[in-house]
Amino acid sequence: MDINCIILAAGKGTRMKSDKAKVLHEVCFKPLLHYPVKLARELSCGKIVVVVGHQEDEVKRRFGGERILFASQKEQLGTGHAASCALDILGDDDMDVLIICSDSPFLRNETIAGLHERHTKEGAVVSILTAKADDPTNYGRIVRDAAGDFLRIVEEKDADTDTRRVKEINTGTYIVNMGFLRTALKKISNDNVQKEYYLTDITGIAVSEGGKVVLHQADTLSEVMGINTRHELALANGIRRREINRGFMLSGVTMIDPAATYIEEGVKISADTVIHPGAMITGATTIEAGVTIGNGCIISDSVIGARCDILPYTMIDHSVLEDDVRAGPFARIRPETLLKEGSKIGNFVELKKSTIGKGSKVNHLSYVGDAAVGEGVNIGAGTITCNYDGVNKYKTEILDGASIGSNTAIVAPVTVNKGALVGAGSVITKDVPENTVAVERTLQRHYKKRG
Ligand code: UD1
Ligand code: CA
Repeated sequence: MDINCIILAAGKGTRMKSDKAKVLHEVCFKPLLHYPVKLARELSCGKIVVVVGHQEDEVKRRFGGERILFASQKEQLGTGHAASCALDILGDDDMDVLIICSDSPFLRNETIAGLHERHTKEGAVVSILTAKADDPTNYGRIVRDAAGDFLRIVEEKDADTDTRRVKEINTGTYIVNMGFLRTALKKISNDNVQKEYYLTDITGIAVSEGGKVVLHQADTLSEVMGINTRHELALANGIRRREINRGFMLSGVTMIDPAATYIEEGVKISADTVIHPGAMITGATTIEAGVTIGNGCIISDSVIGARCDILPYTMIDHSVLEDDVRAGPFARIRPETLLKEGSKIGNFVELKKSTIGKGSKVNHLSYVGDAAVGEGVNIGAGTITCNYDGVNKYKTEILDGASIGSNTAIVAPVTVNKGALVGAGSVITKDVPENTVAVERTLQRHYKKRG
């Protein structure tokens, strides 16, 4: 689209009652600002200028990249002042400019395309995206004269009782002729209840100068809703969650309760996977076909192979599970873990930076860290790889077919060779040779019972 874009994102978001900048609050795991930035990119806007202010450094750190330019608004003096902060960066560029607020995450590019088409066709200086609201509270109202012609936008706080009854609202999205924007922004004042420079006042200026103003109505209010409070943030999460989950369900994923299933956009899930309530799946995660994800599982940036059975309350982070793995309930699989085909991880087992070989089992109450475990190994209940001496981390190797008795401490660096058997309760500090039984325990003694 032959258009530049200004995204207003400097506000603190006072109504969020938060130390965190509003644009960093998340809707379905993505910061609010992700949505308008994505929209502007999809529309192929020329320059995308993001006006930043509150927590500017953090916002810049997370949103740099292709076509994004930042303008600073040091003091948040209102949306009109924010827009004027972007002018220098746009320089002499005379392309029309799309102005959007950072707190309307559901705007669709089709709607902006419709607004742009009318703006161009009707030769407007300003085109405003409007909506009809049953409850217009907090939005700026579209005020018309007796003949129905547009006059100006009036903010809720400045509105009299009659104006407050108007159900036609300003969505905070506009396309503006660049030359007009430059001159109009110089003319706005902060003579209003909030003592702010309102961007909306440029629309009244256009009317008074005889410029053409287009009002283009969005299909639904939910598409254009602004997020100002945590309550609206929760509503937005619900709306987006429904959309995301609908997409997965239509592609063959079963969700027992989609309202309680939390998946980030971009996760890949194949058909015939069943997801139980409370599951949270985020980041660069891929789930192959026929997987079951139990209640309350938290999976991030991981690959889950076909037919895996992830039992309730299991956490998996930056790890790979090959096909037919069973994990949980209550297992914790920490980064850089690889569970090979058919391996089984049971309850209250923590794994970190370890490989568990084909068909091997760690079924109960164990910690396995910095370990390479071969095929067909059985690790008994309560086994601990002691990988840390307070200064350095060391590796444990347990080779194919070995069996580790319950309550064993394996003090790394150490190797348990193929087919070896370690007796329960041992503290293993030396390598165990192949096909050998190792027992490290004091002898059991019996005394006569007194009394
Ligand atoms: C604004 C509109 C209102 C419209 C509503 C739609 C104005 C004066 N009012 O109201 O007519 O109905 O959006 O959601 O424009 N911002 C800055 N710097 C500032 C102030 C705000 O960058 O100094 C940014 C905020 O980060 C936010 C956006 O501008 O993304 C809108 O600000 P906000 O305070 O949410 O405006 P509303 O009161 O919702
Ligand atoms: Ca707002």
